[in-house]
Amino acid sequence: CGIIGIVGTAPVQDRLLESLKRLEYRGYDSAGIAGVVGGKIERRRAKGKIRALEDVLAAQPLKAMVGIGHTRWATHGAPTEANAHPHQAGKVTLVHNGIIENFAELRRELEAKGRSFESQTDTEVIAHLLDTNLAAGLEPLAALKATLDRLHGAYAIAVLIEGHEDLILGARRGSPLVVGYGSGEMFLGSDALAVGPFTTRIAYLEEGDYVAIDHNSASIFNELGQAVIREMRVVSPSAALVERGNYRHFMEKEIHDQPDACQHTLSAYLDPVSGKATAPGGVDFAKVDRIQIIACGTAFYAGLISRYLFERLARIPVDVEVASEFRYREPPVTPGTLAIVVSQSGETADTLAALRWCKGQGLQTAAVVNVHESTMAREADVLFPTHAGPEIGVASTKAFTSQVAALTALAIAAGAARGMFDATEEARLSRLLLEAPRLIAQSIAVEDAIRALAPDLAKARDVLYFGRGAMSALALEGALKLKEISYIHAEGYAAGELKHGPIALIDEATPVIVIAPSDALYEKTMSNMSEVMARGGPIILFTDAEGAENAPAGVKVIVVPTCDPLVAPLVFSAPIQLLAYHVAVQKGADVDQPRNLAKSVTVE
Ligand code: G6P
Repeated sequence: CGIIGIVGTAPVQDRLLESLKRLEYRGYDSAGIAGVVGGKIERRRAKGKIRALEDVLAAQPLKAMVGIGHTRWATHGAPTEANAHPHQAGKVTLVHNGIIENFAELRRELEAKGRSFESQTDTEVIAHLLDTNLAAGLEPLAALKATLDRLHGAYAIAVLIEGHEDLILGARRGSPLVVGYGSGEMFLGSDALAVGPFTTRIAYLEEGDYVAIDHNSASIFNELGQAVIREMRVVSPSAALVERGNYRHFMEKEIHDQPDACQHTLSAYLDPVSGKATAPGGVDFAKVDRIQIIACGTAFYAGLISRYLFERLARIPVDVEVASEFRYREPPVTPGTLAIVVSQSGETADTLAALRWCKGQGLQTAAVVNVHESTMAREADVLFPTHAGPEIGVASTKAFTSQVAALTALAIAAGAARGMFDATEEARLSRLLLEAPRLIAQSIAVEDAIRALAPDLAKARDVLYFGRGAMSALALEGALKLKEISYIHAEGYAAGELKHGPIALIDEATPVIVIAPSDALYEKTMSNMSEVMARGGPIILFTDAEGAENAPAGVKVIVVPTCDPLVAPLVFSAPIQLLAYHVAVQKGADVDQPRNLAKSVTVE
């Protein structure tokens, strides 16, 4: 979910909406705003996207100078108007992101005191609890503190209180919240993007902080209730202001952004002049004897790809696991293990919990993260940055390739540090990797050929993807991309596994996407492909020029630029993403905001 709050000197309705549109990437099941009008707090809410809320506001404008807004990704309670934020209880109106784990118990307690609820949300419980504390005579900040002390879970909130017209309260635990400084106006938001249109002067709240903003200042307290100062910094407008430009969708723009994003990312690791690869933060790979990679979703697949590279180039054993399993499995760890979390947002709840668990075990931790002010970036011992810039499309593209780029560079750095090759070989590998941005640009240029495949593929009910080596991981990511945005059922497999089950699915109506650069495994993959063809499965083969020459007749081929195996995962990514993109466009799906998904999942 996304949160915005403005203590303004001019009407806030349109600004709240503008900010919510930037926050839609965090969820869009319902939306709402509230503001102070003539001493009373009024709210407007709507089920569905911000557009629906705009319609409500067109009929019934909210003429407020102080207000809060919310776009929701449902956790407790269906995405209905009644469950939409802001929630009200007595003098309190609030918006909330996250989950209150003990809400059922608190609700019973409040109901026993005669409070009645209008929604199924955990949020309404916070509103009643706070109102109860105010009714008991506590001042707003003291009432907020007393309320927060009762809540278990991860959350961020923004609150209006009737009778305190120029005040917005906020709190963060587990979910990000920033304070924006304007002139005579102050802001609260889920991230820099939310307040980006209004100010670039921002302070990030720390875990457990709560805050009161008025027209001119922010009073910030830590979870012990002590007044604290959180450094104000100026964020670049480019980070805060993201536009779609001439592209039809953010996803399309972001696919095309990839050469830049990759280049920018690689520049943090590779010196193009000396060819040296360096791990930021002084990580000494010579002392690392195992790597544990932990991530969710697309970031997990970036981790899977990197395993092949770390093991081959640096001879370090690598485990890769999804965070939601890793954190509860509590595996035995050995001291020489480097834990690397991979995350675009740096806020994904399960990944963050896994990071904290690893820290608790005394492991050295590193975070491959795109949002450098995020919780993971700040809490990991070392930040391995990606520089993809803000990613708005829910289906990750440029963040993914930037993760793969950063991890590939780190694998080279690790190999060099461990004496697996000399400086000449290190420079050769670095230069090969530095060619990736250009090769990605060339691979994007095959877009027309891919678009031509979309009408047929859009008719499929099921699609299978397969490849070998790192391409088996890309097959998983390709299938994820397709199901996320086109709602076509898709599965990715290691090519060798096909005959152990999935081959039973093959028929004339089940297209099979084969990802096979002409490397050492090409022949093996071709054998698997023949097995599919023998059963009538239509094939689309993504390969390079040489692979295309050797491909059997009757196969549709997409010719990707010829490249070294080191960069093949990067070079083959864009065409695979474009395939999903054009199929989704063909189907008329909402590419940037697919149903049921959210860009940043800050709940478990
Ligand atoms: C969500 C997004 C995915 C993303 C995953 C991990 O599910 O929809 O696209 O891969 O979270 O997000 P992170 O920010 O940790 O990379």
